Amino acid sequence: MQKSIKGMGTAFGAALAITAITLALQGTDNKATRLALELTARFSFVLFWLAYAGGAIATLFRVDALAGRGREFGLAFAAAHLVHVGLVIWLGYLMGRVPLSGGLLLFFLAGLAFTYLLAFLSFGGASTLGSLWRPLRFVGMNYILIAFGRDFVLPVLQPKPTQYNAAHYLAYAPFAAASILAPLLVLAVTLRHRAVLKTA
Ligand code: HEM
Repeated sequence: MQKSIKGMGTAFGAALAITAITLALQGTDNKATRLALELTARFSFVLFWLAYAGGAIATLFRVDALAGRGREFGLAFAAAHLVHVGLVIWLGYLMGRVPLSGGLLLFFLAGLAFTYLLAFLSFGGASTLGSLWRPLRFVGMNYILIAFGRDFVLPVLQPKPTQYNAAHYLAYAPFAAASILAPLLVLAVTLRHRAVLKTA
């Protein structure tokens, strides 16, 4: 428990530092805030990715440091992503309206709802939910992965005319690849478990 809280504080502090450095160097206008949103989203994604696929990596490649730390990384992600929410509010203030609208706004708000519902329930509520916890966690984690995947994969598949350059692909392709790889790693571990159970 103590370790998770410390991890949350460190993740939040690191996301805050990324934001402070970006805004100090670039200013606090719309463009700089969007850059800070893009950078902090990538930092959040690394933590989320470790929460989603860290256990699978630990099993497949014997990386003990990642074993059994899904909740810790998940809570660190939730803490770091609060900075994303803060930047969205700041951008909304600059624009005089909510930055996204319509279906896209609802889609990302649902991602936030899953993030903080899972984080909240992991403090004891999960055991009260009993057998419902695992399916809820499955749906929530995959929804959040799809939310990240949408922002990373689409710009690789359908770049705008101004985005046909190396910097664009460097900023999106590794994250798009990681979004696709994560469920494949989890699937590989599940299939391996099943094969082992069959032969046992
Ligand atoms: C779990 C929920 C969320 C996830 C996973 C997420 C993910 C991301 C990612 C990956 C980026 C970087 C996009 C890029 O580099 O092009 C981003 C940027 C951004 N996000 Fe979020 N986000 C979430 C919630 C929200 C919400 C609720 C809002 C608004 C109400 C929002 C507004 C924005 C904006 C305005 C940007 C900057 C886009 C730009 O570059 O112009 N996000 N988000």
